[in-house]
Amino acid sequence: MPESNAADARIIATGLYTPPHSISNDELVAAFNAYVDRFNAAHADDIAAGALEPLQPSSTEFIEKASGIKSRFVVDKAGILDIERMAPRIPARADDELSLLAEIAVIAAREAMRTADLSGDDLDGVICAASNMQRAYPAMAVEIQDALGVEGFAFDMNVACASAAFGIETGLGLIRTGARRILMVNPEICSAHLNFRDRDSHFIFGDVATAVILERADGAPRGEAWDILGTRMKTKFSNNIRNNFGFMNHCERDTGAAADAQDDPFTDKLFKQEGRKVFKEVVPLVGDLIANHLEDVGVAAGDVRRFWLHQANLAMNEFIARRVLGRDADQDQAPVVLDNYANTSSAGSIIAFHRHRADLSIGDIGVICGFGAGYSAGSVIVRKAA
Ligand code: COA
Repeated sequence: MPESNAADARIIATGLYTPPHSISNDELVAAFNAYVDRFNAAHADDIAAGALEPLQPSSTEFIEKASGIKSRFVVDKAGILDIERMAPRIPARADDELSLLAEIAVIAAREAMRTADLSGDDLDGVICAASNMQRAYPAMAVEIQDALGVEGFAFDMNVACASAAFGIETGLGLIRTGARRILMVNPEICSAHLNFRDRDSHFIFGDVATAVILERADGAPRGEAWDILGTRMKTKFSNNIRNNFGFMNHCERDTGAAADAQDDPFTDKLFKQEGRKVFKEVVPLVGDLIANHLEDVGVAAGDVRRFWLHQANLAMNEFIARRVLGRDADQDQAPVVLDNYANTSSAGSIIAFHRHRADLSIGDIGVICGFGAGYSAGSVIVRKAA
């Protein structure tokens, strides 16, 4: 077991922004099925002639059973449930207004800064680590840095759902090279990359933003502190979770495949996955990553008080915990937030950490773990120091 003073950095605060609107499975399924009925009625002749397959309805029971999700928070509910649209309505903002992704990151960051009693002057850098950036540049992190009055530097990074774990590792590295404190934010507007007309995935994601403040561990803690005992990252290329949205999309017009895209030119640029394959391939990858990491840091899996896992799918988390522990984990050991938040990509494990750590005692050890597209997986082992 490493000495408590072996840690170079500690987590001293977190913040969470939850959007005001929530959509229940019943509401989502009612909108989806109304869209299906309308589509099938409009194409009744082709369907009857066997030229077109009818769309199949979605079901609340399937969603809850397959994923554990009961509802999700979103930045715009009306646009998603409007069957003419089935996408959030997010008006463009002028260049001199704070962008939406920066706005929600700043709200989460301010909560973390209030908790740790810090102002912008106390931070040396900002990392925006998320699955979907609002634009190519200027970096979201630089806009967030400016809004918070932070001197120094800021940059974006994207490792999909593992972004927060990789962001903590990156922040730790910056602290090792001299930074006093690093703010790491995860604004995720997943509803904007989700195809709400796709039965297989329309229920998966929600919107949220989280923030984590990292500090050098050489001084006495001023408040809550979680020593980082170790971080580990793993990636392995896979096309089983993919989003083809990018800056070259407009160049694809009239070049073949993209010209065949449906009436909505963005539909084929949204999230898609081979859910079964993801399940089968990611569970062992993540389970082994955590188990080996714990072993190398000298922590027995049974001594881990809590796992704050990425929140993608309930059964997936249960399998991962079982692979690490050799037995089932209960809600106390591996808390679930995806029932109300759904999959919030990189933010999921940080929401779990934010909401489910107050009851732990000094000396307790936990694991923050994110995983997803890439494939990518990151593990952060922490111990409560104050
Ligand atoms: N409503 C009702 N039935 C549905 C449905 C819906 N919305 N979506 C799919 N089904 C049906 C399918 O048509 C299929 O029917 P069939 O057996 O008659 O062919 C059946 O349900 C099972 O579909 P399948 O896609 O195999 O479901 P699943 O049990 O694998 O669960 C996921 C789907 C996506 C929830 C699951 O695979 C998963 O969570 N995988 C992990 C992926 C992940 O977490 N990705 C996030 C990225 S980080």
